[in-house]
Amino acid sequence: MEVTAWTSMHGMVNARQERRRISRASLRRIAAFARPHRRGLALFLVLSSVTALLAVASPVLASRVVSAVVDGREASGVVRPALLIAAVAVAEAGLGLLARRLSAALGEGLILDLRTAVFDHVQRMPVAFFTRTRTGALVSRLGNDVIGAQRAFSNTLSGVVGNTVTLLVALAVMLGISWRITLLALLLLPVFVVPARRMGTRMAAMQREAAALNAAMNTQMTERFSAPGATLVKLFGRPADESAEFAARAGRVRDIGIRTAMAQSVFVTALTLVSALALALVYGLGGYHALRGSLDAGSVVALALLLTRLYAPLTALAGARVEVMSALVSFERVFEILDLEPLIAQKPDAVAVPDGPVSVEFDRVSFGYPSADKVSLASLEEVASLDARGGTRVLHEVSFRAEPGRMVALVGSSGAGKSTIAQLLPRLYDTDEGAVRIGGLDVRDLTAESIRDTVGMVTQDGHLFHESVRSNLLLARPDATEEEVWEALRRSRLDDLVAALPDGLDTIVGERGYRLSGGERQRLTIARLLLARQRVVILDEATAHLDSTSEAAVQDALAEALAGRTAVVIAHRLSTVQAADLILVVEDGRIVERGTHAELLAAGGRYEELYRTQFAAGEGAPAAV
Ligand SMILES: Nc1ncnc2c1ncn2[C@@H]1O[C@H](COP(=O)(O)OP(=O)(O)OP(=O)(O)O)[C@@H](O)[C@H]1O
Ligand SMILES: [Mg+2]
Repeated sequence: MEVTAWTSMHGMVNARQERRRISRASLRRIAAFARPHRRGLALFLVLSSVTALLAVASPVLASRVVSAVVDGREASGVVRPALLIAAVAVAEAGLGLLARRLSAALGEGLILDLRTAVFDHVQRMPVAFFTRTRTGALVSRLGNDVIGAQRAFSNTLSGVVGNTVTLLVALAVMLGISWRITLLALLLLPVFVVPARRMGTRMAAMQREAAALNAAMNTQMTERFSAPGATLVKLFGRPADESAEFAARAGRVRDIGIRTAMAQSVFVTALTLVSALALALVYGLGGYHALRGSLDAGSVVALALLLTRLYAPLTALAGARVEVMSALVSFERVFEILDLEPLIAQKPDAVAVPDGPVSVEFDRVSFGYPSADKVSLASLEEVASLDARGGTRVLHEVSFRAEPGRMVALVGSSGAGKSTIAQLLPRLYDTDEGAVRIGGLDVRDLTAESIRDTVGMVTQDGHLFHESVRSNLLLARPDATEEEVWEALRRSRLDDLVAALPDGLDTIVGERGYRLSGGERQRLTIARLLLARQRVVILDEATAHLDSTSEAAVQDALAEALAGRTAVVIAHRLSTVQAADLILVVEDGRIVERGTHAELLAAGGRYEELYRTQFAAGEGAPAAV
């Protein structure tokens, strides 16, 4: 028991130290992000300093007016300072606007840099990262957190510099007029500084919780409000529970919002009160001295006016501390993502896939899906800590070779590892042992771009973006002409359908293509493949959703498209793979049989068993046996 308590306390201390260390490192990195903008920053600093000096000038001028009145001097003694006060006010306003313009540009520039950095970085993450993280949590990092960081950055920037200068100059002038009254007025100062430190830490904690809750709400929305998610909730889910869960999170965010607002306003009110009290002190004490003749009336006015110029920046600076703490939370959440090393990265000396028809080769490949701690962040998966257990082996010493222009077929039970083999080829994952080669070169030595240009794939769950038919197709080849697009549609037997759509090629396919039927969606992904015309083609159950007639039709188109290409075809329906040059039977991550259709049937093993089962079920085993 004691041991546990000690450990957890120790853990807390460590966490606190860790937090402080992170903050300092974060500051350094924020500075790095600000570096490209240093010219604008310097100009901004100069502008703010000048504005701050002007802010101190008018109280001094006002004191001259009062002195002139009290001393009964000529009218010009009053008019000249008054005109100067007007000029100062105009200059202050103009420069203030200019400084605001600069700080906005700097802040927005920072947000742009941060956003693009995060987007670029996330894009370089391997597929494993995306299978683990929750989209909503990720979106929230790019949205809420980046904006939080920016807001605080520009607020702090415009706040801290000007206020510090005003504070120092006002203080110097005040001390010059009457150091005794000034020091007395400053006795109330600790009231500002002490609570600000504690407030900052508390606000940061609340900020962190609010950010996590916001991310959780985002996740729930992106998952439940997608077409497939919403369908699932309608079929199996409990909408009332979903709403209750969402309301609980939203309610918690509201509570935090109220507490933050209250804490802030109590803080500001207290500070305003203290400065009002200090003002009373200056009037009382200064007036008393003026009556006794040890201070002139102008100086009392100057002291009172300067005091407001002193406490206003103090309030702002104390608030800035709180804001900086919250900003650091946002920055840290953004940096956390930037720090995640992509597991799969292109080598600096990577080369392109060789020209011409290429072979595809698996050389004693063993593979297990990477564990969570290698690819992901606990906060993005919305779990307390990441699973460090290594994935179980999915593939064991898989070896085969598809000669240039030849077709290899993979068949076998569900979960045997067929799609996994397919995913290793375009380097969506890296092998643990052995090598995957394209054109005789290890995929780890090839550039990502050339792999993309060489290998085309129709996945089991053909994905479409919520865009038009045209842009979904052009994704594969942005420079394709209108005729080429229609040709691809014609070959995948979609031309009639698309021509009949009200907006034709510009029809939006809906969330994940949900406005199309399963088979239509699949044919669209085939059309995309035909358009891309890659040299190596992987078809993972590409025709599984089609009826026999359209399958036969698409099969012809595919056969035509595959001619001369190196192909890896995965199919449950054995009728579609009979023509393959080599058929591999995969079971439990191992290749258990290999040969041509005729050889495997003759061998009377697992393939023959699968074939007989399908034939008996009447599933299209033609008489070509
Ligand atoms: N992203 C992943 N992370 C961890 N394990 C995975 C992942 N994807 C698949 N697996 C596991 O790897 C094994 C092989 O899956 P794979 O998708 O390769 O099977 P398959 O042969 O394509 O099956 P099917 O015919 O049903 O499509 C399965 O046990 C599966 O649970
Ligand atoms: Mg599969």
